Amino acid sequence: MSELIAYIAPQNVLPALSDCLLILNSSNSHLHVIQADDGDIVQRHYALQMPVQRLVFPPANCHWLIASLSNEPHPAIRTIQHHLVVTAMGLCSNHIDLARSLDIGIASNLSELVEAVLVRQLNDGATLLEAIAICNAQLKGDVSYICHQQGHAQFMFASCLGRPLFVGLESGLRQICCSSLRLIRQRANQVYAMNTGDVVRFGLGAPMLILPNGIEQALQMPAVNKSQGIPHYMLEEIEAQPETLAILVQKYGAGFSLPLALRGKLAGIRSVTLLACGSSYHAALVASYWFETLAGLPVQVGLSSEYSDRDVHPDAYDLVVAISQSGETADTIAALKHAQINGSPRTVALSNSPGSTLTTLVDHSLLTHSGAEQSVSATKSLTAQLLMLYVLAFTLGEARGELSKEQVTAAQQEMLDLPTAVAETLQLTKDIRRWAGMLHRKKNLFVIGRNAHYPVAMEGAFKLREVAYQHAVAFPSGELKHGPITLVNEELPVIVCLPWNLQAQKMLDDLKAVRANRGEIFILSNGNIASVEGTSVIRMPNGLNHLSPIIYTVALQMLAYYCAVFSGNDIDAPRNLAKAKTATLA
Ligand code: BG6
Repeated sequence: MSELIAYIAPQNVLPALSDCLLILNSSNSHLHVIQADDGDIVQRHYALQMPVQRLVFPPANCHWLIASLSNEPHPAIRTIQHHLVVTAMGLCSNHIDLARSLDIGIASNLSELVEAVLVRQLNDGATLLEAIAICNAQLKGDVSYICHQQGHAQFMFASCLGRPLFVGLESGLRQICCSSLRLIRQRANQVYAMNTGDVVRFGLGAPMLILPNGIEQALQMPAVNKSQGIPHYMLEEIEAQPETLAILVQKYGAGFSLPLALRGKLAGIRSVTLLACGSSYHAALVASYWFETLAGLPVQVGLSSEYSDRDVHPDAYDLVVAISQSGETADTIAALKHAQINGSPRTVALSNSPGSTLTTLVDHSLLTHSGAEQSVSATKSLTAQLLMLYVLAFTLGEARGELSKEQVTAAQQEMLDLPTAVAETLQLTKDIRRWAGMLHRKKNLFVIGRNAHYPVAMEGAFKLREVAYQHAVAFPSGELKHGPITLVNEELPVIVCLPWNLQAQKMLDDLKAVRANRGEIFILSNGNIASVEGTSVIRMPNGLNHLSPIIYTVALQMLAYYCAVFSGNDIDAPRNLAKAKTATLA
């Protein structure tokens, strides 16, 4: 995960940066720093060691710096005309159009793009604040950036257009702005979590929110309650999803696709078998709808722990995809071997762990590039699996002549829209926490959905069991009337994934029976449904079609997380569960 850190203080801030690197313990391999050394602006690059060691910076009297950690070998920070320093992170969905209009080449990185937009405005006579306002109106997608102009050594600006950024006050009048909630909670005494659209000025005076009309407002910065401890890895990993998905979108979204050797085999595929356990199994179930709809193929989804005991008869043109975050889950390895022994000729591993056992057993490996996942519960690796399976499904559809060029372009456009939709979903935290406050004491819950959102409901129920220790069960909503409705009463709430699609009306009909039995309903929907007595609605982002299951998955991750927080559970290491050990990580 790339990270941004900016510091400004009356004293040398390099020791503080050094501490931050140890706290972050990030798997990024490059650190780029732009700093003021006794008034001169200096740009430095450091290759980071694993495990992370304390960095010793050359002696300097540095009062401000902007640092970025990434896996990109080229600098993400630049100094150019107007003595401007900019560092940005995220995914800009109109990057190519903007880069063309600015004449900077479409291979420019995001910081270069933001800088070019700002410089164009500064050249036209705008102030930096005016330039930021225009820049923010032009950038589409899920971006955040920090910028500094040498003429204003006392402060910096932070601008949040979706990717999380936090501003904090440390001891010794140091002010920090960074992208990691865990880091800021450890370092700062008071923190402001920026909202999308916020522009904040921070530095040697009180941090100020700059309103759209230019008026400055003192930031409300609640004190950090250190006794609450550091937020969990699970939350950090949930919040990382706009970026983990953006990394995959960049890799596979704009005309690039799967490895050539795999693509060469796709046209001849006649069926797909997906093998997995736990959350990876739910990813497989969601993807089965995509393989049917986009690739026109029959699909079989096998629970790894069951598959190995079955008499299987794979077709000679079947594609087996074994899915495992860790690549080390024994059941999935056994299931893959069972398929191979029984004659499956084409095998793919989908894993977050390069070099894992699973990847050594197959013809082709696809990696989810989500970075290390510390929490036992799969979050960012799961949504990355979903995205990769979607890429595989539409590439198969294209290779088999099931999809027109326009349909492939539409599928790719939906990918580009995804990180922003996930970032918007993360902004529903307040509402989801409110639900969790009401739901975490319920012993039993139903989670329901239809079509590709039924496995999303399964994953939501799984998470509630896994981290919140609640007995949650998922059903396809059409099945309620065939048995489960007998259990519904005022003590059994029903959580509903209700995207506004072809199945929506059927679901609303299914829900009438729940209300008739006094069941309380909690609906996640992008439809225009009002909350009424007994029915609470959270409005989900619009604009996704095939990829809608991903944002509902994220919303349910947050619900399970906050239910677990309210119950005081050990969230990152739930009782009786362990994560399979991973090898090296992408
Ligand atoms: C289980 C974990 O043990 O393994 C689940 O509790 C996880 O959270 C499952 O989804 C499968 O793991 P993997 O690494 O094979 O995807």
